[in-house]
Amino acid sequence: MQDLTPARETLDPIEIASRDQIAALQLSRMKWSLRHAYDNVPFYKTQFDAAGIHPDDLQTLADLARFPFTVKQDLRNNYPFGMFAVPENRIARIHASSGTTGQPTVVGYTAADLSMWADVVARSLRASGLKPGDTLHNAYGYGLFTGGLGIHSGAEKLGLRVVPVSGGMTPRQVRLIEDFRADGITVTPSYMLSILDEYRAQGFDPRESPLKVGVFGAEPWTNAMRAEVEDAFDMHAVDIYGLSEVIGPGVANECVETKDGLHIWEDHFYPEVINPETGEVLPDGELGELVFTSLTKEAFPIIRYRTRDLTRLLPGTARSMRRMEKVTGRSDDMIILRGVNVFPTQIEEQLLAITTLAPHFQIELTRKGRMDHMIIHVEATTGAANDHAREAAAKQLSARIKSTVGITAEVRASEPGKVARSQGKAVRVIDNRPRD
Ligand code: DLL
Repeated sequence: MQDLTPARETLDPIEIASRDQIAALQLSRMKWSLRHAYDNVPFYKTQFDAAGIHPDDLQTLADLARFPFTVKQDLRNNYPFGMFAVPENRIARIHASSGTTGQPTVVGYTAADLSMWADVVARSLRASGLKPGDTLHNAYGYGLFTGGLGIHSGAEKLGLRVVPVSGGMTPRQVRLIEDFRADGITVTPSYMLSILDEYRAQGFDPRESPLKVGVFGAEPWTNAMRAEVEDAFDMHAVDIYGLSEVIGPGVANECVETKDGLHIWEDHFYPEVINPETGEVLPDGELGELVFTSLTKEAFPIIRYRTRDLTRLLPGTARSMRRMEKVTGRSDDMIILRGVNVFPTQIEEQLLAITTLAPHFQIELTRKGRMDHMIIHVEATTGAANDHAREAAAKQLSARIKSTVGITAEVRASEPGKVARSQGKAVRVIDNRPRD
């Protein structure tokens, strides 16, 4: 793999500023953001007043802990534009969640917000090893989802040549990566696996592809998956994190030279990690729920937003800004199977250790008698598709899961191509338990 480390002089000065400089900037911006939210969004005024706290009470960054949290339901209650802090005629873009699980959540941006967003995405793509003049194949979905358009604007700002492919039509993805000689790809890690299958189906050697780096996010993925994809394509795989409520992609990104967790662009998004049960702020290094406060957003300031993502904060390395460890999963995705907490990423890690199984998987929850039962649907690789090999691989995975995760799961290994493929965010868990 090529060394893609960006030259130090191409970084934004704040990325490598001293911690004191970063903290001073954060404090002045945080004061502005709290005041802006309080003065312009009735929801925040009501919340702060009820908690007996005022923006003027913030003297240090630690004082933020005295302010109330914001949760997804608050956004739903204020549907569609109740959380906006500027008049509607200043809103330049609206994005929304798909709303498949209820009321969609709506977010808005002013022109200045869009410009800041493009800046942090450009910074993320540069940290990933891309540079002006490179070609980027952007396979995140375009539309209301923030992935496609968010990456697009940042890529243009960095000076990349963007191919706005969006998700789907997998044979065409392969063809365009090859024909347009893409240097980088932005896509969910699960869809990258579908693209990998398609490479092989078309008889291309993925290791010969022009790709030098993949920037994967929008869903949890493991270091085991990184190794799998890096080896398959002979390219770097780095992690990009973000969420619509905070801005979209580009809240945090790994550096290609270290790949040791994601640097949070702390000059715009202030992170805290809390104990999800008590709400208490945890010291850096401890695992808990990630919470964000926007420091510069105009249209949609967000104060102490509970992401439900589980991670820990770590000191800076390749940049001065703090890192977050790769997200283990969302508290919503945690499966409690007979008293044991399980995340799909733990299954992914074990699955990738078995060479006769493909990396695709789906977890089905059912009930056996009175007990919850987990079925893991996987598939054999083409070389190991006979009945005997499939059964052996299934047994092997089941044993690994028993010994490392500590649960009994039934593994069903089918022939290649039988597990549902993702074209965006993978659906990892299907809950078929009867509702009682
Ligand atoms: O998924 C934004 C995004 C687009 C990020 C493209 C990266 C690349 P939402 O649809 O609002 O926004 O979903 C946000 O996705 O709270 C996490 O649970 C999950 N997520 C996003 N990035 C990662 C990641 C976009 N790198 C939710 N690792 C977040 C793990 C991630 N989970």
